[in-house]
Amino acid sequence: MADSIISAIDIGSSKIATIIGIESKDTDELRIIGFNSTSSRGVKKGLVVDIDKVTSALEESIEKAERMAGQKVHSAIVSVGGPHISSLNSRGVVAVADSQGEISDTDINRVVEAARAISLSTTRQIIEVSPRDFIVDGQEGIKNPIGMSGVRLEVDTHLITASHTNLKNIDRCMENVGVQNDGFIFSGLASAEAVLTDTEKELGVVVVDIGGGKTDIALYVDGSLSYSSSIPIGAKHITNDIAVGLRVSLDSAEKIKLYLSKKLDHRQDKTKRKIEELNILDLQLPEVVDQFDVKLLIDGIIGPRLEELFKFVSDEIVKSNYMEHIPSGLVITGGGALTVGVVEMGRKIVGLPIRVGVPSRVTGLVDEVLDPQYASTVGLILYGRKNIMSKEEGFKNFNKILKDFSVGQSVDKVKDFFKQFIP
Ligand SMILES: Nc1ncnc2c1ncn2[C@@H]1O[C@H](COP(=O)(O)OP(=O)(O)OP(=O)(O)O)[C@@H](O)[C@H]1O
Ligand SMILES: [Mg+2]
Repeated sequence: MADSIISAIDIGSSKIATIIGIESKDTDELRIIGFNSTSSRGVKKGLVVDIDKVTSALEESIEKAERMAGQKVHSAIVSVGGPHISSLNSRGVVAVADSQGEISDTDINRVVEAARAISLSTTRQIIEVSPRDFIVDGQEGIKNPIGMSGVRLEVDTHLITASHTNLKNIDRCMENVGVQNDGFIFSGLASAEAVLTDTEKELGVVVVDIGGGKTDIALYVDGSLSYSSSIPIGAKHITNDIAVGLRVSLDSAEKIKLYLSKKLDHRQDKTKRKIEELNILDLQLPEVVDQFDVKLLIDGIIGPRLEELFKFVSDEIVKSNYMEHIPSGLVITGGGALTVGVVEMGRKIVGLPIRVGVPSRVTGLVDEVLDPQYASTVGLILYGRKNIMSKEEGFKNFNKILKDFSVGQSVDKVKDFFKQFIP
């Protein structure tokens, strides 16, 4: 079978990233052949606030990625996130069409369509319909009912909605650059696809993507996406706090922030130093910065902002009603997941295990891409290649998703083992 090209554009508050991959139909491999990350312009907290600026940043990023890949981008999957995202779980019910009672993919499409038929304000648009669980004649817990016998088919779905205006604005930018939009994917869901293991999803886990202007949350229970939201705080707030606290420019504050996380992180700097040995005079900033206490900067400026962020994350988990169902804890990703002290603070505030999620499952030009900053970028093509909600039909390729679903059943034993420990 022929290989096909798949492209995606991650429109973030800090960067706009374009990624081009080749999907091998035979080996299931996704090879990256083009990538570019350009400073974002005209995006605030995930919202397009200036169409012209976003268009020019998109143009720049797409063109550079195209040059690297030696391929034109005709269409791309696009990320969408920010506090305008909201989610709900909805149930659909249909009678199985076949008189013999065998459930077919047409029944799946019909029942999912029934679940998405909710009354929605005209300012909102559904961007994701994810089946969580099927119920056949009252029997719950069925992941793939195709081929089963039954007369009544029900489905529990997770729906994600977004601001219609923002989606239209993104579409306008895409039209301006002459690239067709293959569909929107919530950036938190994309990140989850790139950094989570199937076992984590089965056990219950929350992805927290700390971006520049917002933090996306995607919560999985029993292998299915069950709660999504986005908080209007991101790692840029930390940079702002440092700028105000030390009376330096935003550029200098950003340099200080990156310097601290680099020097205090084993993975990034093999010569990890002690806090007392760090001296920001090493950075040779244009401003005169008095000698100051690095520990105070971490505990007094960065710490409180991280604390605030994780309190919001905690509130969201409580709001989801799934607090008792996420023994795998938090997987933090996005550029902000590299902030100094973020793991410790998250553990303290949320009280769950935490790890930093780095994207994987792609090959090719991956040196730059396998970084938490690009979790949602990589996730877009990983998720998009198996299910994208076509604009015309409003449907995804559920057959492909259902195949994925059944993977989860193999980890049921592990899950039961862990569940003993949940109070
Ligand atoms: N090594 C690092 N240490 C600390 N912070 C970092 C590091 N690398 C990146 N960041 C921060 O991560 C943020 C950018 O993250 P990311 O690229 O995930 O955001 P984005 O996707 O553009 O924005 P958003 O998702 O909020 O729209 C910036 O604030 C940057 O300072
Ligand atoms: Mg992002």
